[in-house]
Amino acid sequence: MRMVDLIEKKRDGLELTTAEIQFIIKGYTDGSIPDYQMSALLMAIYFQGMSQTERADLTMAMVDSGDKIDLSNINGIKVDKHSTGGVGDTTTLVLGPLVASVGVPVAKMSGRGLSHTGGTIDKLESVAGFHVEVQNNEFIKLVNQNKVAVIGQSGNLTPADKKLYALRDVTGTVNSIPLIATSIMSKKIAAGADAIILDVKTGNGAFMKSIDDARELAKAMVSIGNNVGRKTIAIISDMSQPLGFAIGNALEVKEAIETLRGEGPADLTELCLTLGSHMVCLAQKASSLEEARKKLENAISSGSALEKMKIFLSSQGGDATVVDHVKKLPQAKYTFELEAKQSGYVSEIVADAVGHAAMLLGAGRATKESIIDLAVGLVLNKKIGDYVTKGDSLVTIYSNFEDVSEIKSQLDANIKISLNKVKSPKLIYEEIL
Ligand code: URA
Ligand code: CA
Repeated sequence: MRMVDLIEKKRDGLELTTAEIQFIIKGYTDGSIPDYQMSALLMAIYFQGMSQTERADLTMAMVDSGDKIDLSNINGIKVDKHSTGGVGDTTTLVLGPLVASVGVPVAKMSGRGLSHTGGTIDKLESVAGFHVEVQNNEFIKLVNQNKVAVIGQSGNLTPADKKLYALRDVTGTVNSIPLIATSIMSKKIAAGADAIILDVKTGNGAFMKSIDDARELAKAMVSIGNNVGRKTIAIISDMSQPLGFAIGNALEVKEAIETLRGEGPADLTELCLTLGSHMVCLAQKASSLEEARKKLENAISSGSALEKMKIFLSSQGGDATVVDHVKKLPQAKYTFELEAKQSGYVSEIVADAVGHAAMLLGAGRATKESIIDLAVGLVLNKKIGDYVTKGDSLVTIYSNFEDVSEIKSQLDANIKISLNKVKSPKLIYEEIL
């Protein structure tokens, strides 16, 4: 096989075979196919697209390019949740203990993240003593025992995707639905998921700004999952404003604890119940979404979800007393209030700009080398549709430095107040089964 022939084939709109796709991914991973040829192929894919079969083949070729996590010694159906990323998305911290408390095994491999806040692991490390450096056999034992454990990224998963993503980044080919969908799905499958629930975000704080793009991506990923034997479901949820109130690491842990106690923000709670119900059904722990939801609501009201959080934290070395004493989480030195400059209805809270303000406080990494400050961040006191009186606090700023004027002006410019009544945005737009 010659790469040049395959580039021409795709350029002319023909379909690549399974063997051809395997040849390309193997050759690109081992370096025998150079970047310039791969770049040309990516651009051809960008314009010509890929068939369902090609997408499934590309996904599995990328899965096979590196290590695969073997979760077969964990009892039950392993369901993984993936979010395409948003601002203040605290769902993983809530969903792990929540669905585990009704018997769904959660074997989560997680990362640190280069975003407005750290990733799930950074957030969890705001609990003193908590660690994710767990041996593989210990990890499996923990999930069988407690139904939930989180491990740091280990092994060399989907090296083909890493190399391809870097190349796409500099060749104008990131924004291709088949390439995005195969990239995300290959990572989930390599991480050992039997079934997958996808939370595809849409809005200004999301990767997919429009609902049409979000739907297309969601459908593409659901098809790939189902075509490669992993039952996959997607929901499309709102990211036009941050999710919940808190954006920060320790602040989001506190928000997750409150949500598990039944005292969390309405939107975060609803999204967790929706995603969680699908997870319970995918794991075959309930026969309908209504039954699954009842189980989860019971787990919250009975305290068993909160109890599961304590077991989860303590079995990975964490100080579980933070659950009852959230003041033990890292605390910022200073708090400031961003006051409303006029009365009216909150009409806009630009998610990515607010996320950026949290990063400026130190809650997220600007570069891989940045050290994040677990204590700092933002807590929204109002959401879109709420009425505010001039002088009310819109946001509480948790900071370890005294001068937050830049943060305040950034927030000011991105939280709008209108004299007319504003409806709060829809949280869940669609479910794609
Ligand atoms: N996220 C991914 O993992 N891959 C993409 O291609 C885009 C977003
Ligand atoms: Ca949040």
